[in-house]
Amino acid sequence: MFEKAVSLACAHLPALGFGVGLRRPHYSQVLEQHPPMDWFEVISENFMVPGGQPLKVLEGIRERYPVVFHGVSLSIGSTDPIRRGYLKSLASLARRFEPAWISDHLCWTGVGGRSLHDLLPLPYTDETLRHVVQRVRIVQEILGQPILLENVSSYFEFANATMSEWNFLATVAEEADCAILLDINNIFVSAFNHRFDPRVYIDAIPIGRVGQFHLAGHSDHGGYLLDTHDHPIREEVWRLYEQAVRRFGPVSTLIEWDDNIPEFSRLAAVADEARQRARTALG
Ligand SMILES: [Fe+2]
Repeated sequence: MFEKAVSLACAHLPALGFGVGLRRPHYSQVLEQHPPMDWFEVISENFMVPGGQPLKVLEGIRERYPVVFHGVSLSIGSTDPIRRGYLKSLASLARRFEPAWISDHLCWTGVGGRSLHDLLPLPYTDETLRHVVQRVRIVQEILGQPILLENVSSYFEFANATMSEWNFLATVAEEADCAILLDINNIFVSAFNHRFDPRVYIDAIPIGRVGQFHLAGHSDHGGYLLDTHDHPIREEVWRLYEQAVRRFGPVSTLIEWDDNIPEFSRLAAVADEARQRARTALG
């Protein structure tokens, strides 16, 4: 049984069902054949261009499907100034295509004007918390809507951390009044790499804050897991997803696959498996 209390940040988010990340190899098939799919998540930066083919693709997709925007370069935790130009372009793209919501990651991707092209974890301290909360508020003001922040997978931690990642994420969401995109695979990968119980993470996230789930596959390197999005979803990750559905309810769910990308029909089948598992988990 899950509580019905929903935060303001989540109140406006529709339940979209079960979707997949839109990837280039599937553009023409989706545009020409319109396969059944509840919704698509698109990478915002791929469409933040002045014109041409990418925007035509997005127009064609948007005519038939709900979409959400998922960014990879907000760098909310960085100490670099907030890139207002980037946010204004994103806001303008959102005005044109009306995504159901906009998300990015709880991480930093560079500093001193240099991008490291990676989604890096933050030092989970009170100072970082105040910094991130203030920046999320500014971002939401510029965009004119709440954002969803996603937990990243990680391969190192900061020795000066004073709180867990799950407490940090939950507190950022509460204090900045933003929503959470909970990546179940990232929780599993980080839990293995840092030796914590992934179920503790799920149980610490406030009900009513989670607006979307991500599901993906990872690669197993024996001593550590790598979040590669190039494998089928592992059974343990499915089990964790079922636990999350029981806690948070029928939250919009998205399958990510970024390398060794299979046929669209296989991706659609994975989205259907998520639908079945969510239905069973909710009884
Ligand atoms: Fe993700």
